[in-house]
Amino acid sequence: MDWGMKNRLSRLIQRDGRALFLPIDHGYFQGPVHRLEQPGKTVEPLLPYADAIMLTRGILRSCIDPFIQKPVILRVSGGTSIIGEDLSNEEVTTSVKEAIRLNASAVSTSIYVGSRYEHQTLMNLSNLVNECEEYGIPVMAVTAVGRELEKREARYLALCCRIAAELGARVVKTYYCEKGFEKVVNGCPVPVVIAGGPKVESELEVFNFVYEAIQKGAIGVNLGRNIWQSDYPVAMIKAIRAIIHEDATPKEAHQIFSDVKSGR
Ligand code: 5RP
Repeated sequence: MDWGMKNRLSRLIQRDGRALFLPIDHGYFQGPVHRLEQPGKTVEPLLPYADAIMLTRGILRSCIDPFIQKPVILRVSGGTSIIGEDLSNEEVTTSVKEAIRLNASAVSTSIYVGSRYEHQTLMNLSNLVNECEEYGIPVMAVTAVGRELEKREARYLALCCRIAAELGARVVKTYYCEKGFEKVVNGCPVPVVIAGGPKVESELEVFNFVYEAIQKGAIGVNLGRNIWQSDYPVAMIKAIRAIIHEDATPKEAHQIFSDVKSGR
């Protein structure tokens, strides 16, 4: 692996081999989602605890202070909306030249395996990898399920992750599943991070699935709504950070959450 690729990956994945990515790219197809109406304000207090932020070029340019020292994972696919016909009909929206201009440490694109536009999104990934490898830029594949959240089961996720790795993704983002998550990670020869999906009821539930995912081989998270849609986002990210980088248990993480929440 060339120095540039290694260096960019080392900015994203820390020395302990773990990573906490904070995605705020949701608006690219969902518009101004709850608590992300003003993305700059939402992420400002959270950035010190994130290893990288993931977002589109528009939000990066207009809402994020260029003085930040956090690495950027640039979402470069899109072209669909939540009210449109088919979320899987994505194309690459942002050039690699633009990613370099914006000093991105990585780019990300969604793949929709099993969907109508499976081939198109897999070729988006393949073509991006071809180009990005030339410049030492890692590509993170996002295994997307669109509205079909029930697709988050091991056999399907393992298929998606493996295909993403085969096509050259350097990191794969997927979902945690209770049964058989080890199979998802074991079948994927590149690092796996998990997203959280829609906000869940309790904080402990989030700490549990992040902890379990790490125990079963994920290197960390690319987790958005369950952090910044919380009423206590800083407490959430600090607790999740402790699970990822300090091997905190869900119980310990919950204690950190409660302490930060109550200002202790
Ligand atoms: C969807 C994405 C998000 O970055 C990903 O789903 C993580 O966010 P969350 O934890 O909120 O699901 O790729 O646009």
